[in-house]
Amino acid sequence: MPVCHTGGRGFEPRQPRLNPPRGTTHPAPSATAGGAFVFFGRALTATYHVPVLADAVREWTRGGGRVVDATVGGGGHAALFRELGAEVLAVDRDPEAIAAARDRLGDTGIRYSTGPFGSAKVLGTVETFRPDRILLDLGVSSHQIDTDARGFTFRPGAPLDMRMAGGRGVTAADLLNTWPEQRLADAFATLADEPRARRLARAIVRRRGTAPFATSDDLVNAIREARGARAGPSDFARLFQALRIVVNQELEQLALALPALRATLVPGGRMAAITYHSGEDRIVKNAFRDWSRSCVCPPGQPVCTCRGRALGRLLTRKPIRPDAAELRANPRARSASLRAFEVAADG
Ligand SMILES: C[S@@+](CC[C@H](N)C(=O)[O-])C[C@H]1O[C@@H](n2cnc3c(N)ncnc32)[C@H](O)[C@@H]1O
Repeated sequence: MPVCHTGGRGFEPRQPRLNPPRGTTHPAPSATAGGAFVFFGRALTATYHVPVLADAVREWTRGGGRVVDATVGGGGHAALFRELGAEVLAVDRDPEAIAAARDRLGDTGIRYSTGPFGSAKVLGTVETFRPDRILLDLGVSSHQIDTDARGFTFRPGAPLDMRMAGGRGVTAADLLNTWPEQRLADAFATLADEPRARRLARAIVRRRGTAPFATSDDLVNAIREARGARAGPSDFARLFQALRIVVNQELEQLALALPALRATLVPGGRMAAITYHSGEDRIVKNAFRDWSRSCVCPPGQPVCTCRGRALGRLLTRKPIRPDAAELRANPRARSASLRAFEVAADG
């Protein structure tokens, strides 16, 4: 079952239970209904993003002096690395995040690189930096979610954008308006475990024949049509998250980037990844497990033709999750899961 970073009751206002026709906008929540959301929204926006699993990340960082924060967001974890005295290379594909981190942390002891962590440009910069720690805190920041214009939210009237890289590439609306029904159904089934994926894809294709999808309301109303009037915030969050993952090619990027990033670590260096979706977590778990095996030949192969020795060791047999106190303070951490790996000292 996929888990979700940001969705669920308490963060997004409830949508009306009506099933309005295409092109209508679902009303904004009343002051009372939206009270909790507005409170959290303001609190989290004011701090850009509350860093998740900070104690575990601090522990994992100890002994490191050159840390790559591959997803710097608002610089919450990067601030912690600086406090520990490390030099930091801060990466984010979102120029707004880089600007916010720079505003907060300045330029002393920290440098910045804008781009996807798996891009040739960023990997070249990371390699030159010679890191002994690399952190990936995946998904989106609270700031991205809370800024309606970025189009990650299912709050009423938000554009269906969802691009992390600030205006470059294909939007969520583009996908919803052009993808064949089967492809949409597959995405919702695999990335959101949506039992009515086919019905939803059919509703989208039918509705876009009347007017192209443009705002959150269009997708919310299609979800309601497919799932019935009981569809609620957790359904919207799950399905919007699936679309975001597709728009930003998040799983493909992660799978390609992990080994390339690992190869930049100095001997004895460490990598940690915080995931918020079961698909992300599976990629990280499998990569770390494979790297820690001494032989990766197919079972039954008589002679070992692989490298024949482990690239390093797992530092987390089980993923580290937020405790109750953290969840009380920051409910958005609820689906976070941290895994860590250490490259062999003679690697
Ligand atoms: C959960 S936030 C990170 C928050 C940060 N750790 C902090 O404490 O403020 C995730 C960030 O990763 C960025 N991001 C996601 N995928 C990325 C990728 N492939 N390359 C670079 N940045 C990425 C997003 O733009 C977002 O700013």
